[in-house]
Amino acid sequence: MKSRFAPARKALIFWTLFIGLGAVGGAACMLADPSGRSVGMSGMLPYFQVLPFADVLFQDLFFSGIALLLVNGITNLTAAALLFRKKPAGVVLGGVFGVTLMLWILIQFYMFPLNFMSTLYFIFGFCQAATGYAAWVFQRQEAFQARPLPPLPSVEHPRRLVVYFSRMGYVKKLAYEIAEKTGAAVYEIRSTERTEGTLGFWWCGRFGMHRWDMPIRPIDVDLSAFEHVTVCAPIWVFALAAPVRTFCRQAAGQIREADYLLVHHTSGRYESAAREMDRLLGLKHTALRSVQCKVGAFREIQG
Ligand SMILES: Cc1cc2nc3c(=O)[nH]c(=O)nc-3n(C[C@H](O)[C@H](O)[C@H](O)COP(=O)(O)O)c2cc1C
Repeated sequence: MKSRFAPARKALIFWTLFIGLGAVGGAACMLADPSGRSVGMSGMLPYFQVLPFADVLFQDLFFSGIALLLVNGITNLTAAALLFRKKPAGVVLGGVFGVTLMLWILIQFYMFPLNFMSTLYFIFGFCQAATGYAAWVFQRQEAFQARPLPPLPSVEHPRRLVVYFSRMGYVKKLAYEIAEKTGAAVYEIRSTERTEGTLGFWWCGRFGMHRWDMPIRPIDVDLSAFEHVTVCAPIWVFALAAPVRTFCRQAAGQIREADYLLVHHTSGRYESAAREMDRLLGLKHTALRSVQCKVGAFREIQG
């Protein structure tokens, strides 16, 4: 799958360099001439007088220049250097310094009347923070996907089957763990629609929102040959993921006994998704496991 972290990291390098170099440039001007006259900033000094300790700190631009250099300059350039060296801390710091910029601008909103530059830089801070968050998520997703899966058992005539659908590999990992523990065969539900990447996410969301079935590849396993089937499904838009809905509809009457595993972001149990599977399959599940998964960290939700 194409890396989403790589472009997000590049975008974050852009923001940290853009904000960091701008801050160093601004600070250099302020420190070179603290009166602000040569760079046309002296008119700003009266606005600084609303700040605490203004009589000591803000009679010229020296302290503001130092603060700008430290808070937005050196910080962002450090994050850029860490990002260039592919250090994970660079991603976190790059995002955090976006928030720092927004806080810095909040002080400007307090000092100055509403103005174009402050508003623009507040938006820049938000973009930087959002880019940092996206890069952090993508980095963790890709690190999770690079981890090896548990080996599949080699049982000659398995009596159990684990059926799963998975976009990003979280459900797949748990499905493989169940198969390893129970000696079950594994069957993957595969959609014929686009489910990968960012576009795939939105496309899946559309099916989820409308509670539609999503077309899947023909089921090429004899479900009635197994004594027990474990169906492993993600939750999409607070309900059963669309490809698993289609699978259950097509598998109606073929499964003798089933339990379910539901994987999602939140702390809910999603019993309604289990009831929907029961209804579609025409049976009553023997057990339900509900697992919260946040970019690779799993937590069981007890009933
Ligand atoms: C389109 C879409 C909608 C989702 N909606 C929800 C939701 O409503 N509640 C929730 O807890 N998780 C939701 N999730 C998160 C997934 O359930 C979660 O990331 C799960 O681990 C995905 O497993 P997979 O990557 O193996 O397919 C959604 C994911 C997608 C793709």
